[in-house]
Amino acid sequence: MTFAPGRSAMNPAPFPLFLAPMAGVTDTIFRRLCRERGADVLTSEFVSAEGIFHRNERTREYLEFQADERPVGVQLFGGDPGHLAEAARQVVDWVGPDFIDLNFGCPVNKVVCKQGGSALLKDFPLLERVAAAVVRAVAPRPVTAKIRIGWSAATINAPATARILENAGITRLAVHGRTKEQGYSGLADWDVIAEVAASVRIPVIGNGDIVSADDALKRRRETSVAGLMIGRAAMTNPWIFAEIQAAMEHTHDFRPPTLAERWTFIVNHCRLEVGRRGDERRALRSMRSRLMAYSRGLPHGRHLREQFARVESVAEIEDIATAHQIETAASREDG
Ligand SMILES: Cc1cc2nc3c(=O)[nH]c(=O)nc-3n(C[C@H](O)[C@H](O)[C@H](O)COP(=O)(O)O)c2cc1C
Repeated sequence: MTFAPGRSAMNPAPFPLFLAPMAGVTDTIFRRLCRERGADVLTSEFVSAEGIFHRNERTREYLEFQADERPVGVQLFGGDPGHLAEAARQVVDWVGPDFIDLNFGCPVNKVVCKQGGSALLKDFPLLERVAAAVVRAVAPRPVTAKIRIGWSAATINAPATARILENAGITRLAVHGRTKEQGYSGLADWDVIAEVAASVRIPVIGNGDIVSADDALKRRRETSVAGLMIGRAAMTNPWIFAEIQAAMEHTHDFRPPTLAERWTFIVNHCRLEVGRRGDERRALRSMRSRLMAYSRGLPHGRHLREQFARVESVAEIEDIATAHQIETAASREDG
C-alpha cells in the first residue's frame, strides 16, 4: 500500500488518495501512520510566509518530514505575491519537498483578514499574481493549490478559479466542496467539484465528506476527479485509506482492525509523540484532541472521552486500553 518507487512525485498512483492538510493534526507522525495505511500523497498543515521568514521552532516542526513520506508537499498561505514566492523558494532550499501547495481555502478570519486563504477566491487578479509568482519562484518544482468552491452560496466560482490557477501554472488542484461562508457546516457540493474537474486539464482532486469506501467509489464513478482527499474521517479512522484502496482494486483483503489492533495503534501514536517531544506530560496533553477523535471509532466513546480529557502518561493510556477491552468484551457477552 505504500508509495511505489517508479511512480512519479506528481502521479504516485493511478487514482491517488490524499491525506488532507489539517492544522494541528497532519504532523510528520500522523502523516506516516496514514502512509502506512495507504495514503498516497501527504501535505503539511498550512504555514504562513512570515512563519518561514522567522524560522521559529513551531515552523521547523511544521516543515519536518521523513524521506519515507515522499511524495510530500508543504502548504503555504499568504496574500502577498512577493512574500509568498520568497517563502516558497526558501522552503524548497531548506527542506526540499516534492511540491509546494498553496492554500486558497482557509476560512479562518485571522488568515482571511491578511488576504490569505479563501480571501483570494474574491480577488482573481491577486489570486493569479500569487499563484504565478510562486510557480516562477520554485520552477521546475510543481506548485499545487487547494480551494473552496467559492466565498458564499451566491458567489460559487470554482470553475473560473480553477481556470485561472491552471493558466498560472498550477499543476494539480484540490477542491473542497464547501464555500468559505459554510465553514464546515452543511454538505460538500460534489456537483461543483465535478464541474471543476470537467473545466480544466490539470488533475482535480475531490475533497469533502468522504467517510467510507462506498463514498469514495461513488465520487470516483460519478465525477472525473483524478483522486480523492480525505481529512476528518482519517482522524477517527486512519485505516480508511487501505479500505478504499482495497475497494478500488476489487480485492477483498481489507479486514477492519480489531479492537486490540486499534488500541495498539493508539498507544503507538502516543509513544511516537512522546519520542518526538521528549516531555511525556506535554506530549500526552497535545494528544488529547487526537484521542478524542480516535474515541469516535470505539464503543463506549463517551466514557473514554472523559478519561482522555485527563491523561498525562502512556501508562495511563495503556490502563484505559486494558480496562476498555475487558469492559467491551463483558458487554458483548451480556448482549
Ligand atoms: C482540524 C482541521 C484543520 C484543517 N487545517 C487545514 C489546513 O491547514 N490547510 C487546508 O488546506 N485545509 C485545512 N483543513 C481543511 C481540510 O483539509 C479539508 O478540506 C476539510 O476538512 C474537508 O475534508 P473532509 O470532509 O474529508 O474533512 C482543516 C480541517 C480541519 C478539520
